[in-house]
Amino acid sequence: MLRKEQNDLLTQTGPGTPMGRLFRCYWMPALLAEELPENECPPVRVKLLSERLLAFRDTNGRYGLIDEFCAHRGVSLWFGRNEECGLRCPYHGWKYDVTGQCIEVPSEPEESGFAKKIKLKSYPLVERGGVLWAYMGPPDRQPALPEWEFAMVPAGQSFVSKRTQENNWLQAMEGGIDSSHVSFLHRGNLNSDPLFKGAKGNQYNLNDSRPHFEVVESPGGLYIGARRNAEHGHYYWRITQWVMPSFTMIPPRGDHPVHGHFWVPIDDENCWTWNFDYKPTEPLSKTQIDAMRAGKGIHVAYMPGTFRPRANKDNDYLIDRAAQKAGITYSGVEGIAMQDASLQESMGPVVDRTKENLVSTDNGIIMARHRLLRAVKALTEMDVTPPGVDLEHQRVRSAAVVLPPDQAYKDAAKEALKVRPGVHHASV
Ligand code: FES
Ligand SMILES: [Fe+2]
Repeated sequence: MLRKEQNDLLTQTGPGTPMGRLFRCYWMPALLAEELPENECPPVRVKLLSERLLAFRDTNGRYGLIDEFCAHRGVSLWFGRNEECGLRCPYHGWKYDVTGQCIEVPSEPEESGFAKKIKLKSYPLVERGGVLWAYMGPPDRQPALPEWEFAMVPAGQSFVSKRTQENNWLQAMEGGIDSSHVSFLHRGNLNSDPLFKGAKGNQYNLNDSRPHFEVVESPGGLYIGARRNAEHGHYYWRITQWVMPSFTMIPPRGDHPVHGHFWVPIDDENCWTWNFDYKPTEPLSKTQIDAMRAGKGIHVAYMPGTFRPRANKDNDYLIDRAAQKAGITYSGVEGIAMQDASLQESMGPVVDRTKENLVSTDNGIIMARHRLLRAVKALTEMDVTPPGVDLEHQRVRSAAVVLPPDQAYKDAAKEALKVRPGVHHASV
């Protein structure tokens, strides 16, 4: 449970808010690189942290993320002409470069220097691992580019997708660190989804729906260990990584790729759910990539031409009550991603956390909220850089392991929880 002020603090991320300032300490995924496929291609609208922005790629391949609206009289530059190293407003021809600098005002004599005085707000936008990353904080605090393993492995070893989700970022992210719901909500999928089925660990998940949680602080966030019974008194541990502010990595299953998410606020009532799947040491197979493209695993099928899921709020997520009754799916909604999103959206745009009744399996959520609140306070009051900015905090892996009862996972799986180049992730 949170007090109303705490809930407001964590869920409001627009300009000038403390949590918005925290998000502005990090490089955030903003677009898929394929959304700007070539030089001078059409610009793309991007809303992040309640700011309406426009991404474009100029004649020389430089990326820009600038204010969506023309400084003259406020036209959306989405209608702009992407030509000769700049984006030209089609209303009266004012032209801007990728830094937001106005480089031409055709109605004014060039000698007047008028254009030089006009500059739109802009943020750096950089490609890494098939993702365009944006940094929206103060230029003098810009950190090194992110080094999450999925973005560092060679192309062909990772697959990244994104979808819009119609609720606040925090309740979506909290779903990502609450692994106790897997034994219920996703139980129908563990043995049928092509990106989950066949792993030995699935049986431990299905046989023990009362996991014991051990949550430990990590340098960048939390290790969230969920313990279930295995054979001979051993324990099956699933260790999720949460790195501030909103990166999660789910423990792998068998030989399947390892996956995780980022949640990025669009505004206070909508967020981007980013999904990545990768293999640290080998390429993904064609079968795996085809399954991801088809919306299996943590990915979704879309409304054509959009990043909105095909199963969405307007069609009741295509719920199938017969499948629910027969136990084919636990909630009646098809697919792991939409099982999560449907329930999280059903809480309303911003869930009222003053009314919750939390239990011991919510420990990860409780500790993540506290860590966020602490980091926001330290940043606001003492200008302390939050956890997760340091590249060392990003070099993490989730893990699934079976351990004897006397071994603490944070010691026994210590190496498995770090990026180890050339070594496969620890998986059961
Ligand atoms: S509104 Fe853009 S040039 Fe006039
Ligand atoms: Fe889930």
